[in-house]
Order: sequence, then C-alpha cells, then structure tokens
Amino acid sequence: MKIALGVSGGIAAYKAAEIVRLLQERGVRVQVIMTQAAQEFIRPLTFAALSGEKVITGMFSPGEEQEPNISSAIEHIAVAQSIDALVVAPATADILAHFAQGIATDFLTTLYLATTAPVVVAPAMNVNMWNQAATQANMEILRKRGVKIVEPGSGYLACGMTGAGRLAENEAIVAAVLEALGASQDLSGETVLITAGPTREKIDPVRYLTNRSSGRMGYALAEAALRRGARVLLVSGPTSLTAPGGAEMTRVESAEEMRRAMLDLLSQATIVIMTAAVSDYRVKVAADQKIKRKGAMALDLEPTPDILKEITSHKTSQIVIGFAAETTNVLESARQKLIAKNLDAIVVNDVSREGVGFDSERNAVTIISRHEGEVVEVPETTKWDVAQRVLDQVVRLREHRKSAVKA
Ligand code: CTP
Repeated sequence: MKIALGVSGGIAAYKAAEIVRLLQERGVRVQVIMTQAAQEFIRPLTFAALSGEKVITGMFSPGEEQEPNISSAIEHIAVAQSIDALVVAPATADILAHFAQGIATDFLTTLYLATTAPVVVAPAMNVNMWNQAATQANMEILRKRGVKIVEPGSGYLACGMTGAGRLAENEAIVAAVLEALGASQDLSGETVLITAGPTREKIDPVRYLTNRSSGRMGYALAEAALRRGARVLLVSGPTSLTAPGGAEMTRVESAEEMRRAMLDLLSQATIVIMTAAVSDYRVKVAADQKIKRKGAMALDLEPTPDILKEITSHKTSQIVIGFAAETTNVLESARQKLIAKNLDAIVVNDVSREGVGFDSERNAVTIISRHEGEVVEVPETTKWDVAQRVLDQVVRLREHRKSAVKA
C-alpha cells in the first residue's frame, strides 16, 4: 500500500515526520510532497531520510539536465495513479481553499485534482482562520465531496491563542488513513476471536511463570481485522499495549482464564486466531504465601490445557488459525501441529532468528494452509503487514470453503 502525504506550511509541519513513521510501521509506503511554504518550516531532507523516498518539492524539479525535465512535469499523473490515498497533514487554510475551488498551482493541488484515490485532510491553523466563514464553507464543500476530515483539536495554539485549530493527534490521523485504505471491508459480517500476549502462571503472590511475548502480533491482527470491517473479540494476556479502539477486550492472566474466556466467546466467532504464547506449564499448587529463600528448590509443574486443541474439538464452522514458534525443524514441526490441532492454517515463525518474532516490531513467517497444503512465505516485514497477509489467507480459506460447499 502506498500513500502520498502532502505537507503544507504551518508550525505543525514537523509533526508530519512522526506520521510518516507511524504509517511505515503499519506497512504503508509514504511519498512525501511538500509545498513551498512547508519547506520554510522543515527541510525536505528530514522526510527523505524517514520515508526512504525522494521528496517532491515542486512541479518542475530542477534535475541535472539543462532541458526542462519532461518526466517530472507529468509526475503528478504518475503519482496520482500509483497511490491508494492522498493525505494532507497539516492542511493549511490556503491548501483547503485550493482543493475546494479546484485551483491547481503546485504539485499538491494538481495531484488533488488528478487522483481518484480517497483523500484525508488534517487541518491546522489559527483559531480565527479556522472559524472564518470562508474556511468553514470550503470545509463543507470538501466534506460533501467525500473528503475525510480529521477535525482539529482545541487547545493552546502556536500563535498564542487558545481554541480550535490544533492539528489532530497523530494516532487519529493514522486511524483515518488506515480506514481510507481499508475501503475493501472484505471481513465485514465476520466476528474474529483473537488471543494475544503471554499468560502468567502464579507461583506465589509475587512470582509467576511467563514468556517474552509482547502481544504485538495479536494486537496488529485485531487492528487490521477491524479496519477490514470485522467485529473483533480480543482475549489478551498481560501486555503493555493499548487496546485497538473498537475491539471488545477480555483481559486474562493465566492459561486457565484464557481457556474459559475462549470457550465462552467461541460460539459468537466465525474466525479464530490464536497468537497467544500460552505458558506450557504451571505449578501444580501455587503457594498462598511468598516462598522464602531456603537454598536449592524445585517447582512441581504440570502442563496447562491446550486451548487451541480444545477449541477445534468444540468448534462448529469456524475457520481456526494457529501460530507456532519454532527453533528447529521449523516447517515440519508446524505441519505436524496443523494436523494434531486440526487447524485450517498455521502461521509459523522461526524464533531462533535475530530481530524478528518475540518481543519485536517485525516478523517473518510462513503460512501453511490445510487446503492443498498451500504455503505462503512472508519475508521479514512489520507485524502490521504480516497481519494483513494472514487475513488475506483467511479470506482465501473462506472462498475455498464456499466453493467446496457449492460443489
Ligand atoms: N496453544 C494453546 N494452548 C497451549 C499451548 C499452545 O492454545 N497450552 C496454541 C498457541 O496459541 C499457538 C499454538 O497452540 O497458536 C501452537 O503453540 P506452540 O507453543 O508453538 O505449540 P505447543 O503445542 O505448545 O507445542 P511445543 O511448545 O511443544 O512446540
């Protein structure tokens, strides 16, 4: 997925740098376009370094040639056709006026006319400029044309005044962009039940057994499924992540609590995805009091219930996806789990590799489906991107099922 991020001239222009990073984390490529005025506030080099792409700064880039650069003169058409959304943050009163009136005087305003992709604008300006009837009339025109407006917030403004006109929070802008990108809504009507994070198995009142899972993979799946139109039930072990807005959360600690929550919710789900790193063992009897230090000791452990196996034995028509973390014999072990746990697909990651998997922003996985043993490789990328590929596979499995029922 690729977007064009237009940065227009305002004090808030520097905030666009963080927006580039947040979108990239979610696997979105960002082509930055700066207006002349924006370049007075922040240098194009900042965006070039962050986005890894050349920043477009004008209609006719000087280039090395002496002749006018023909290719850059039609670049707005090429960009217009290659993007999945046009986002402007911050959007000044002037840019909004140009958009509303269809006046094309630079690259960004020309691109607006040339693209058919969804448009998202995040205005930022002085409170009086925002409240001006002219600005409000332009906003109304844009709103009617289907432009998504991320409303500015109220507060202290750089000009020293207080009121509406502050650029919206970055998270709100990113959410609006993702919504515009997820226009396909291919999971609408589905209820996706997802487990995430580690579990904690109590040893005594202050100690527990757990693992390095951060929960990021499950939370990314929850967010991606929401953007694609699904209802999401998220059963989460202890993590430091904020719940994706719109997900229905059940927070649990132990494997037993996770098991109960899953069995309770299963009948509502049409798709189940188990990313949780469930602790495999728990102490047989947790101590009521803090255990005193008294030399060598051993813990008497017993296995926790295999939640996924129980889910597939209770399931009706749900599509069930498991995750597997392996260090040796990666694909073969995953295939065995696919069969043993009666799954529709398994997503396997080689956790012995550096920088991916557990407690990391990134992942590299192989998705093995039951259907004709199909194997999809997802080379190292963000967990957001992995989440999208897993959901693509869910959609494929659903299609296979539908055609099998018809046949
Ligand atoms: N799983 C589960 N309940 C458990 C252990 C694992 O539901 N008690 C689920 C995980 O959420 C994951 C899948 O089973 O989706 C595979 O987890 P993994 O730890 O790789 O497999 P195990 O069955 O625990 O096998 P092993 O640890 O021996 O490789």
